[in-house]
Amino acid sequence: MTAAAPGVTVRFMKIDGKPYRSIWLSEDGWAAEIVDQTRLPHAFAVARLETLEAAAVAIEDMLVRGAPLIGATAAYGMALAMRADAGDAALAAARERLMRTRPTAVNLRWALDEMAAVLGPLDPADRAATAYARAAAICDEDVEINRMIGVNGLPLIRDIADRKGGERVNLLTHCNAGWLATVDWGTATSPIYQAHDAGIPVHVWVDETRPRNQGASLTAWELGRHGVPHTVIVDNAGGHLMQHGMVDLCITGTDRTTATGDVANKIGTYLKALAAHDNGVPFYVALPSPTIDWTIADGVAEIPIEQRTGGEVSQMTGRTGDGRVETVTITPDGSPVANYAFDVTPARLVTGLITERGVAAASRAGLESLFAERAAS
Ligand code: MRU
Repeated sequence: MTAAAPGVTVRFMKIDGKPYRSIWLSEDGWAAEIVDQTRLPHAFAVARLETLEAAAVAIEDMLVRGAPLIGATAAYGMALAMRADAGDAALAAARERLMRTRPTAVNLRWALDEMAAVLGPLDPADRAATAYARAAAICDEDVEINRMIGVNGLPLIRDIADRKGGERVNLLTHCNAGWLATVDWGTATSPIYQAHDAGIPVHVWVDETRPRNQGASLTAWELGRHGVPHTVIVDNAGGHLMQHGMVDLCITGTDRTTATGDVANKIGTYLKALAAHDNGVPFYVALPSPTIDWTIADGVAEIPIEQRTGGEVSQMTGRTGDGRVETVTITPDGSPVANYAFDVTPARLVTGLITERGVAAASRAGLESLFAERAAS
């Protein structure tokens, strides 16, 4: 065991064919365990989170990332906090600490609101057990939501396969919206996994997704482990591929979608949507309902865009020829860098939103047709 941060211990594991979720309760029944995504694809490591602070740091430092998994980890962070101190002040402080971890993915606020609504009215003596139960339920709900996104997205891929007479369907995705970004299945990848498992020939163009390379490091890794044919491309290749008829369908995830269907996702998503629009390629976004922010209508104006440390841009980490993982600097000393982590794709560029309840138009009317009760609340 090696200490990574206060309250976090890390152990390396071999994958032996055993199915993993991205977060689970430890065997001793009280800590949260996660796949440490900062170590992929070069090592598969499990980190044990024992404190609120460990959960917060795991989100900030991106040991876990992806909107749904951020929400699930925050829920367990609340449970860990309640285990240590279930008083009113501790409850408020835990919520505030976790809320500060990452600004763009709205699932964080959603999960914290869920936890606070359940825990607030309780006697402090009952809060810890209830918090663990609600965190586990949030994880299970996420798995089912994503499974249903796959069920609802699969016909889009099947239709293209039928039209192409069984020739392979070429999909393009950006960042990692796979099982690593959720609790299981993934959002954008769920229809892809389900199509592959159903015997439909699929091939995925995987954007590397600078600066943190979630595509090259995470999406490629998980598609590969599941046996899905894929090719990693540089972020700027998508437009060229679309011009040459080499992309049938784009599917990305989202970190926050407005009530009108504007979509915030990893930086570079907008450029893919523009290229798709120019080339008549359908551009779908896989959208679990906790990712909808019903309080806002204008994504560009209202969604906070996270700016992260410049080191993510000026440096790259990879494996050397002799197997060491090293970080190198790629910019001249003194050159300023900027690191905008997300961008917003306006609804007009989105062909449709694949949700757990069906596929909706990217518009207020489309979302309200599937989620009328939430729109009203
Ligand atoms: O910065 P990250 O890695 O948390 O960003 C993740 C993404 O942008 C994903 O595409 C998004 O969260 C959807 S995940 C199901």
